[in-house]
Amino acid sequence: MSQPIKLIATAAMGLESIVKNEVKQLGYENIQTENGRVIYESDLSGIARSNLWLRTADRVKLLMDEFNAYSFEELFEQTKSLPWEEWISKDGFIHVVGKSHKSKLYSVPDCQSIVKKAIVSRLQEAYSLTSRLEESGARYKVEVAILKDKVTLSLDTSGSGLHKRGYRIGQGEAPLKETLAAALIQLTNWSPNHTLVDPFTGSGTIPIEAALIGQNIAPGFNREFSAEEWDSVSSSIWDRALEEAEDLANYDQPLDITGSDISHQSIEIAEQNALEAGLADLIDWKQMQVSDFVPKSDKGYLIGNPPYGERLGDKEAVEKIYQDLGHIMSSYPKWSVYIMTAYNDFEKQYGHKATKKRKLFNGFIQTNYYQFFGKK
Ligand SMILES: C[S@@+](CC[C@H](N)C(=O)[O-])C[C@H]1O[C@@H](n2cnc3c(N)ncnc32)[C@H](O)[C@@H]1O
Repeated sequence: MSQPIKLIATAAMGLESIVKNEVKQLGYENIQTENGRVIYESDLSGIARSNLWLRTADRVKLLMDEFNAYSFEELFEQTKSLPWEEWISKDGFIHVVGKSHKSKLYSVPDCQSIVKKAIVSRLQEAYSLTSRLEESGARYKVEVAILKDKVTLSLDTSGSGLHKRGYRIGQGEAPLKETLAAALIQLTNWSPNHTLVDPFTGSGTIPIEAALIGQNIAPGFNREFSAEEWDSVSSSIWDRALEEAEDLANYDQPLDITGSDISHQSIEIAEQNALEAGLADLIDWKQMQVSDFVPKSDKGYLIGNPPYGERLGDKEAVEKIYQDLGHIMSSYPKWSVYIMTAYNDFEKQYGHKATKKRKLFNGFIQTNYYQFFGKK
C-alpha cells in the first residue's frame, strides 16, 4: 500500500494542541485538529511510528472513511464499498464498537451489526468465500462513530490505550494517566539540562515520563500494539520503527530529576516502576513531606499534582501544603512552578498569582494547571 493513509490520534479534552505538536514533530503533514482528535496523513510506517512515539495521545486509529448516512441501507452500502480486504486478513476477528449522537441512526447495536455484516459481506466477496469467515486470527477493532448523521469508520491500531506504557507495576493514591503526565511536562519549557522536581510523586509518573522525554526514549518501546498482528502492516515496518527509536534514544543524556512524597509506600512503588521502565539509576527518589523541600540549585522546574482536598476534612491539610510550598518557593524566584489542582483558591493559599492558567481534565475532574514562570 503506497498511497497515503489517514490516521486519527485521539486526545483527552484539552490536550489536542499538544498531540498536534507531537504529530508535527514526527514529520506528518495535513494535520487537522478537532475536538478530541487529531487527523493527519502518513504512510504505512506512520502506524508504527505514531504508536511508538506519541506521548500524549490516547490511541491511534486508521481512518477508513467518513460519509453521511441517514438509513441502514446507506450505512451498509457505504461500509461495503470500502477496501476492508486491504487491511483485514481472511481469518481476521472483527469486533465492531460504536457510538451515535444527534443522528437519525441512533441505535448503536443496530449500527454495529450493520457495519459488521457489510464488512463480512465485502470480505467474503474479496476472498471468494462461500462459507462464513473463520475469525480465528488477528483482532481488528472497528469503530463506527456517528455524529449529526456523519459516520466515521476507523480501525483501532493501538490495542490497549497508549497510556499503558508497560512500566506501571504498582500505583499509589490517585495516579496520573501517563499521557497526562507527559502533557504536563510538555506544557513547561523544561529541557533535560535543567533540574526537575515532583514533590508529590505518588507512583512516580511525572519523573518517569520526564526521564523518557529527557533521553528521547519512545514511550511505547516496551509494549505491543494491535496492528503488530496484522499482515497489512508487515513486521519489517515495525522493525524499522523500533530501530529508529533505538537510534534516536539518547541514553547518555544526564538528568537531574527527583521525585519525593510523604508516603514511604509511594516511594517504594515509584522506584519499582522506574526500574520496570529501565530508568533505575536515573531518578532520585526520596521520602519527604513538602514542607521539608529545599531546592538544591537556584534554578529549576517543580511540576506536581498535589492532593486536591476533595474529601471532607482534607481541606485544611491541603491548604497547609499549598501555603508551605508557596512560602518555600518565594525564596527561589528563578524556579518555575507548575501545579495541577482542582482546588479553586490555589493561588490565594500559595500566595502568588500564576503567570498563566490552563484548564485541564484529570479524568472527569476539571482542574487548573497553574504556571508560575521563574525569573530569567
Ligand atoms: C494526587 S497524588 C499524586 C499522584 C502522582 N502524580 C502519580 O501519578 O502517582 C498526591 C500525592 O501527594 C502526596 N502527599 C500528600 N501530602 C503530602 C505532603 N504533605 N508532602 C508531600 N507529599 C504529600 C500523597 O502521598 C500522594 O502520593
